[in-house]
Amino acid sequence: MKPLVVANWKMNPTSLRAAEALARRIAVGLGNVSGVEVAIAPPFPYLAVVGRVTRQRTVLAAQDAWAGASGAYTGAVSPLMLRDLGVRYVILGHSERRRFLGEDDGLINRKVKAALVARLIPIIAIGEEHRESQAVTPPVLAQQLARALDGIPRRRLRAIVIAYEPVWAISTTPGARPDSPDNATRRALYIRKLLVKLLGPSVADTIRVIYGGSATAKNASSFLATDIRGMEGLLIGGASLNAEECITIVQSIRKKVRGDKS
Ligand code: PGA
Repeated sequence: MKPLVVANWKMNPTSLRAAEALARRIAVGLGNVSGVEVAIAPPFPYLAVVGRVTRQRTVLAAQDAWAGASGAYTGAVSPLMLRDLGVRYVILGHSERRRFLGEDDGLINRKVKAALVARLIPIIAIGEEHRESQAVTPPVLAQQLARALDGIPRRRLRAIVIAYEPVWAISTTPGARPDSPDNATRRALYIRKLLVKLLGPSVADTIRVIYGGSATAKNASSFLATDIRGMEGLLIGGASLNAEECITIVQSIRKKVRGDKS
């Protein structure tokens, strides 16, 4: 399956002009990327301009969407509005939203349902808070995954994306350090096992599991295992705000995927 790299700009940069320049530098630097799908997730106010300057080189992702289509929800953004802007993916359940905005599994589940109705592809983020022994599989992963997918017909979940982002590895967490590639691969295999149990093998097969947490140009490609179905992409935060680093990450992944095939 084609690897997916998602550039999550979070609440950066703080001007339209800077967002446009960053998107343009990334798009020009990437050229005609083949073999890797690149999605840029800027803040809402920049989606249209990022879509315009990147043309077809990258696709658009949103950092969140509301749990319903329209109505009296001050400040919320409907998945239908995003779809209308040309957005393809939507990140749901990011740990920062769980932590700072108190989003719980029930709300995330409703958001996943609304995104699917609007024909957006959810990127559902799950991950444990604290670093644990590699031998332990944090129960929170199974819990967050099952609750996010609860009550949704299996067939609707084809081709969604699960992002494993251990909170302790996210660059803005004090003392953060990236997960080890081996552990990330073990987690991907575990999440895949959970998906098979929840959705059956044929739907699970269509789902990409990607890694997020202090990924940089130096370590990015090491997270992808191409001989087995480990991590099949990255959710990049901090490093995606530097165009050169973002481009190097995508190129390193493309090289790895190509190199391992030949
Ligand atoms: P980071 O963010 O790359 O800055 O660690 C990753 C994430 O939030 O998933």
